[in-house]
Amino acid sequence: SSPSSSSSSAPYNGTQQRLPGAIIIGVRKGGTRALLEMLSLHPDVEVAKAEVHYFNVEEHYRRGLSWYRSQMPFTLPSQLTVEKTPGYFCAPLVPARVWDMNPAVRLLLIVRDPAERVVSDYTQVLHNRLTRHKPYQPLEELLLQKGRINPKYKALQRSLYYQHLSRWLEVFPRDQIHVVDGDALIRDPFPELKKAERFLQLPPKINPSNFYYNTTKGFYCMLTAGHDKCLDDSKGRPHAPLSTQAFKKLCHYFRKPNKLFFEIVGRSFSWC
Ligand code: A3P
Repeated sequence: SSPSSSSSSAPYNGTQQRLPGAIIIGVRKGGTRALLEMLSLHPDVEVAKAEVHYFNVEEHYRRGLSWYRSQMPFTLPSQLTVEKTPGYFCAPLVPARVWDMNPAVRLLLIVRDPAERVVSDYTQVLHNRLTRHKPYQPLEELLLQKGRINPKYKALQRSLYYQHLSRWLEVFPRDQIHVVDGDALIRDPFPELKKAERFLQLPPKINPSNFYYNTTKGFYCMLTAGHDKCLDDSKGRPHAPLSTQAFKKLCHYFRKPNKLFFEIVGRSFSWC
């Protein structure tokens, strides 16, 4: 939707930069980019194109809300500003900081099978290291110590959704956090977008015709006003290899934490 995002100070007619009314807080590799881009199909939604990292990076947070606002797109008063920073979900100080900004802000959390998410997380780090010509250990070495799951591995900890969500629920009421099923969003985005639209109290404007399955990419892409848009190659890339045995251990490891997560969100997911 237009007018488009900019951090320049020259406003478009009648528009201003406003603090977000909704934030996609994570989870990293859950499908946060897809969710943000798909929400921006809505004419009443404007999104910050880049991740803002305001609440989780001290240097940014110290700059205060005027800096945060300057990172937002120009909007009309009727439009909703949305930003996404997946790093918010796991950062301990963030929930209280977001509450201080606006206790009525609406939060979106997109989750995905936590074992798959670990592999996706590792694949992203591996890719970043290789582009900087730095070596990286195989996933199995990070994940397992003497054949057992290493609970200190950071990517593993980021998949302990109940731990992180519990911290958010110490600050925000449950009904202010909408959980999006990232695996369902991959399979068929429209139903998940409908639910998000309803949660954000937006008039129903997103249509099934906004999405088409791109067989080359192997994912859904977006269609608006005759333009089609797929996410870039870093989204939906082949995962680093992991033995079936190690993947099974990972699934087993997540069984209990997943159960706890299902209890606090009040629904279950068909994860491994
Ligand atoms: P993979 O690259 O592991 O497949 P994030 O934007 O939070 O980093 O999430 C990236 C993930 O979004 C991708 O992980 C991919 O599976 C998922 N995704 C969901 N819908 C997508 C879409 N329509 N196109 C590409 N990736 C999508």
